[in-house]
Amino acid sequence: MTFESHNEFRSDTFTVPTPEMLASAVNCSVGDSVYKEDRDTLELESYVAKLAGKEAGLFCCSGTMSNQIALRTHLFQPPHRILCDYRSHVYTHEAGGLATLSQAMVTPVIPSNGLYLTLDDIIDNFIPDDGDVHMAPTRVVSLENTLSGIIFPLDELAKISHWCHQHGIRLHCDGARLWNAAAEVGVPISEYCKYFDSVSLCLSKSLGAPIGSVLVGPREYIEKANHFKKQNGGGIRQSGMLARMALMALKTNYSKLTQTHKWAKEFGKWCDKQGIALEVPVQTNFVFLDSKKVHLNPAVWQEAAKKHNVKVMGYRIAFHYQNDAASVENLKKALLEAFKDSLVNPYVFRGAPKLYRVNSNSSELTMVAEHEKQSAKVI
Ligand SMILES: Cc1ncc(COP(=O)(O)O)c(C=O)c1O
Repeated sequence: MTFESHNEFRSDTFTVPTPEMLASAVNCSVGDSVYKEDRDTLELESYVAKLAGKEAGLFCCSGTMSNQIALRTHLFQPPHRILCDYRSHVYTHEAGGLATLSQAMVTPVIPSNGLYLTLDDIIDNFIPDDGDVHMAPTRVVSLENTLSGIIFPLDELAKISHWCHQHGIRLHCDGARLWNAAAEVGVPISEYCKYFDSVSLCLSKSLGAPIGSVLVGPREYIEKANHFKKQNGGGIRQSGMLARMALMALKTNYSKLTQTHKWAKEFGKWCDKQGIALEVPVQTNFVFLDSKKVHLNPAVWQEAAKKHNVKVMGYRIAFHYQNDAASVENLKKALLEAFKDSLVNPYVFRGAPKLYRVNSNSSELTMVAEHEKQSAKVI
């Protein structure tokens, strides 16, 4: 079957609902989910909560909503702060929600190993509640798994979880792609979830549902999160059709994730052979080109992609279950063309920089050029 999204490499969010998914929605329940009267929504919430090994689940319309209300629910009275990886979606790509919804300070931490935060990174950047009135104490640690496609090692998670709970710190997981980690490592998703107080699990990314994330955690916590969901306009009335499609996506597509990872890994190896440097090793469904070593001209890259009928965005290449072999070959042709051009005309941005960010290698502030801004965009 060829999907409309067969040539989409911008993000795994571009998967489209299958005819079977759409057909399943026709027979959905039509209760009001704000009043907890929708059967299909309740079924999805309890199905995902059970998989995650948690008491309860809450269907949210997006991962952003699920993450933001999760963190809001963990926090009480400011001043308070959240510690996370400096690349975390909750910090970089959720429209400043931590500042507005939670009034939280953020400690964005650069992982010392270049891949994922360790317990030492957390201890080194943790602000205790020790009576120093100058500080906003750390109340929550928020981790992301996978992050840049990298799988968080279970043994490190166990150490972090133990330490956080010893120190009264809540631990949240942005598990937008936790399914990918569990599928790749070959463990039930509950093996990851057991270390966290709350987990946001997206259904609309690599699993291919048109919409939705489920926040899981203890029942009392989920009840409170539901309050914030409503406050933020997230109460969906007849959500049964969305829940139906999401449940079908989960049941039919989870088993396809490892094949997607194989494609991404093969593509990573191919990049290596061509001398196209990667930023991080390929472990799941993302390939990140190294923007410090690969100087693609964004216009040439877009032009080559158009010529070979593939859709790309910046330096991240996302694979999903609806790609096909022909599109992957076309993607190679497009990238090779743009890469060859970059060897002759390395793209150097000239102009007024608009953004500053912390340089992952040197810890110094560096200016980010417009083209890098584009490449840094993650949806
Ligand atoms: C890691 C991560 N978390 C959260 C989100 C937010 O999801 P949504 O686009 O459904 O708000 C995304 C979006 O792609 C993401 O990549």
